[in-house]
This record gives sequence, C-alpha cells and structure tokens, in this order.
Amino acid sequence: MTNFEDVIERKGTRSVKWDFADMLFKNEGVLPMWVADMDFQVPEAVTKALQDRVSHGIFGYTMPDDEVKQTIVDWVSNHYDYKIEKDWIFYSPGVVPSLHMLVQALSEVGDHVLIQTPVYPPFYSIVKNHGRHIVKNQLTFDGERYEIDFDDFEQKIEKNNVSLFILCSPHNPIGRVWTKEELQKMADICLKHGVTILSDEIHADLVLGENEHTSIASLSEDIDEATVTCYSPTKTFNLAGLQASYVVAKDKKKRKRLERQFHGQGINMLNTLGLTALEAAYRDGEEWLEGLREKLAENVTYARDRLHKETDSIRVIEPEGTYLLWLDCRGLGLEHEELKTFMQEKAKLGLNDGASFGEEGKGFMRMNIAAPKETVVEGVERLIQAVQKA
Ligand SMILES: Cc1ncc(COP(=O)(O)O)c(C=O)c1O
Repeated sequence: MTNFEDVIERKGTRSVKWDFADMLFKNEGVLPMWVADMDFQVPEAVTKALQDRVSHGIFGYTMPDDEVKQTIVDWVSNHYDYKIEKDWIFYSPGVVPSLHMLVQALSEVGDHVLIQTPVYPPFYSIVKNHGRHIVKNQLTFDGERYEIDFDDFEQKIEKNNVSLFILCSPHNPIGRVWTKEELQKMADICLKHGVTILSDEIHADLVLGENEHTSIASLSEDIDEATVTCYSPTKTFNLAGLQASYVVAKDKKKRKRLERQFHGQGINMLNTLGLTALEAAYRDGEEWLEGLREKLAENVTYARDRLHKETDSIRVIEPEGTYLLWLDCRGLGLEHEELKTFMQEKAKLGLNDGASFGEEGKGFMRMNIAAPKETVVEGVERLIQAVQKA
C-alpha cells in the first residue's frame, strides 16, 4: 500500500515542482508547495502495470481499445453519476490542450468567452490566444466563502453575446465544489442564451469530506447536449507527467467539430504509458483514492488549525475540494509584490502567486498541501515563523 507519510526525494527527477523551484523563486532552499502535483507515489497497481508494459520493450503506436473505453465509461458513470457512451470520448494529452482545441472548435474568432475569476491561469490564454475575448463573472467573496453572482453571470452573457462558458468544477484556486443547485442555475442561464459550456472537471475526484462532485452535463439531456466535459486521471492519481486525458461530448454536431479539430491537429490517441496508467488507475485505484482523500482532509485540517491558531494575518479559505489552499494574506498589510517577496525570502516557501489567477487574487497565495505530513508541517511552520517575525 502507498504510504502517504513517506517523504520521497523528488529532486533530480526533472520535477517541475522541485527541480525548478530555486530558479523560479530566485532563492535557494525554498520549500516547493506550488504547482498542482502531489508528493505521493501512485497506486501500486499503476506502478506494476507501467513496469509490465515497460519490460515489453516495444513502444509503437497505441490506441485505446474497447476495454479502455469501457473502463472510462464505468469510471464516469460510477463516480460522477453521468451516463456516457464510448463514442462520445476524445483523447488528449491534457486538459489544457483540450480546452485550447475546444475553444477553437466551438467558437469563432472575435467571440466572447465567460470565465469565473479568480481562476486557473491558463483559462486566460486559452481564450486570448485564439482571438476570443474574455468576459469575467467575478466570484463574490465575503471574507470566508466564494459564491456566484448569478445576476452578473446572466447580464454579462446577454450584454456581450457570450458564446462559450468555461466552467472550473471543482474550482481552482478557491476550492469550491459547486452544488447541484448552483450548477443547475448556471446551466439554465446558458441554455436560455444558447451558450456552450466547456466544463473542466480535472479536480472531480478530489472532493473533501461530505462534499460531492456533480458533472454539470449529468443534470439533464438538454444540458448534456450543450456541454463538453474535460476529465483526466492525472490530477487524481498523480500522473501529470504521463499526459493522458479525455473529453466527453454527447451532441453529434459538436462531436463533428471536435473530430475535425482534434484529428486536424493530429491529436487522436493516448501515449502508451499514459494509457496504461489511466486504465490501471481507474480499474484498481479506488482504495488508494479513498486513502488519499482522507490524507488530504487531514492536511487541510492541520494547516488551517495551526495557521489560524498562530496568526490572524492569514486566513485559509476552507476548501471543499482540490488539495490547494487559497490563503488570504491581506492581513499582513503588504503590497502584492512585497507579499511575493515575503513568501520567497522570509518564509522560504514556493507558493503560487494569487495574482496569476486574476487581479482578484492580489493579496492571496495558493499553497499545495498534497504532501506527507512532515512536508506540510515544515511549510506551515516556516510561514508562521515568518509572520511572527514580520
Ligand atoms: C483546473 C485545471 N485544469 C487543468 C489543469 C491542467 O491539466 P493538464 O495537466 O491535463 O493539462 C489543472 C492543473 O492544475 C487545473 O487545475
């Protein structure tokens, strides 16, 4: 069994998180708690499947067959209560590449695309790089919790004649797991105004406690027709370096466009090891995932309790999902650039810059707690000590 408390040296593996941290944060000895991957080993069944495949020694072209498709159909049905068919699935190296292709396939140059900010940084370039315009439905924040301003959501859609909405569900970086009611409301507005929904559900399996993820497409047949969903086992099972994800689209017309886009760019299969890992994780990773969720919830509780006990200057926004803590650091009274320097130089922490998620993120930082307790303790203590010395 994977031991989530084992501290495993990742330096020297060309890890983005660990090997590039000193350079990125311009300080030696920074503890990396940034980019969204985990410091945990994958399920043993995944390692074993990869070892078996590697020892075969031939790595020619590979394609997902019926068995792999069924594994995906089963996972989506069992975990997201969403009934899909095998020929609704498209393969892609990642959710980010998928979103790039989907924006091109399902909107026109000059179109307006709605996003809910603050949000995962690539959402901005995914829209802008293809000559589309960003429309922001800023999430409201009362100091503790983020909510959707539905009036603003609808007004922005109407006023800008929005054609696409990119939903982040669960939402990175604020950690909300949208409720069925919230999803229904957004979907109803989108249906009313003919807006296509691109739903990025890469964090779908990483829900904490009693929270439950709902795939927006599962709400009704009409919503399903209006939606294209991006899923991936890579966030769930720590496989980001293997680049394996998929897109699900029910509507035939959208699928035609996707086919043109995906195949037109030569993207229609999965790499051999990504495919092997996806299948093994979905087949045999359930128990590991249960253990992971418990471990993440434990780390969240630890970090939140400890920080809130030792300082009033940093508030942890309670995450309902993901392993990313959104830290409200405005109590430190620093300008945003000063806050970044403080984290790097005083706390010696490599965190994600809140402002990279949109200007609403100024005064905030994002901390990745998907690591053994020892690492999380070290990170939290570094932060507390720096704050207490400030
Ligand atoms: C919301 C969201 N979408 C997509 C990605 C990245 O997906 P991929 O690595 O499959 O391109 C991330 C990674 O953190 C994410 O948080």
